[in-house]
Amino acid sequence: PVVALVLAGGTGSRLYPASRADRPKQFLPLLGEGSLLSRTVERAREAADEVVVSTRPAFADEIPAHAPDAEVVVEPAARDTGPALVYATHRVQELYGDCVVVALPSDHRVEGDFADVMRRGARVAADTGSLVTFGVEPTRPDTGYGYIEPGEFEGGSEREGETDYAPVAAFHEKPDAETAEAYVDAGHYWNAGIFAWTPAALLDAARDTPLSGLVAALDAGDDAEAAFEDVPEVSIDYGVMERADDAVVVPATFEWDDLGSWDALERVLDPDEDGSVVAGDATLRSVDAADNVVAGDDKHVSLVGVSDLAVVAWDDRVLVVPKSRAQDVRALANELKSRG
Ligand code: GDD
Ligand code: MG
Repeated sequence: PVVALVLAGGTGSRLYPASRADRPKQFLPLLGEGSLLSRTVERAREAADEVVVSTRPAFADEIPAHAPDAEVVVEPAARDTGPALVYATHRVQELYGDCVVVALPSDHRVEGDFADVMRRGARVAADTGSLVTFGVEPTRPDTGYGYIEPGEFEGGSEREGETDYAPVAAFHEKPDAETAEAYVDAGHYWNAGIFAWTPAALLDAARDTPLSGLVAALDAGDDAEAAFEDVPEVSIDYGVMERADDAVVVPATFEWDDLGSWDALERVLDPDEDGSVVAGDATLRSVDAADNVVAGDDKHVSLVGVSDLAVVAWDDRVLVVPKSRAQDVRALANELKSRG
């Protein structure tokens, strides 16, 4: 079977103060109908035969409300997506045997032929035994994404035209602005953050990385909790994909966006006549204000004479930041967290 493995263990720190330690972005209804996680699970059901949600211990109790009927895998500890995907992929193999895993983040907005592309990617993963990435055509030199340099495209392997993919010549996670610009000019893809692999392909690729100890423990049937104590906190991108020598890229032909920071909302929500967007349950009254991103939980927000800001009011907290510095909210949220 094709098993969708939905990742729902991140904290979404750049979406503070809507996203908080006990209420991360995947549980928020940022696009209207349903939380980001429940929307992802619905999408996953169309693209796969089984749906599994993987999360950290602190969020485990919340998952069923967003993903009824999905199998839930709880990682022994929060160690980012590298250990999470190795652990959960191993668990999926125990549950379903021979299968292809399609790993889906829960912070994306997707429109279009998503299920078709996932099925195609799963077929490439089964046919080639490679780690399959999905490449999005970049529209700007975004520093919040990974970049994929494709090699030569091959026409379909088994079914002409349906399995178009290229080897990954190089994978670069989150470059600086100058490098990102060069990658866009060179025709590299954005990494959609979605992957397809057989369990054997991922576990083999992870054997030669900082995750080798975890793979060895899982192979040996040792206690995973103990193995997680020593495993480094590392994303799948830095931990495995940048080092992988057998990866391929399938073009992602659907509309795609990562809702990682407040500025992303203006790309996916309909603007009002002043060019501003409003998310959550907030309402906006503005005079002489334009191109702002406003979000809130049932808040009435008023703006006068300001533009290009993100203004967010959630619980008893307010955040104001220029849209252009929305990535820097991560540092703020981390500082607030460390102060308790
Ligand atoms: N289960 C689990 N456990 N999930 C986690 C954990 C964890 O410890 N940490 C993060 N996640 C989940 C998040 O909830 C999110 O759904 C997904 O993993 C991806 O994490 P992000 O933190 O949103 O990653 P990113 O957006 O910075 O970067 C990744 O995605 C980009 C595209 O969206 C990378 O793969 C980039 O290369 C890629 O371009
Ligand atoms: Mg993301």
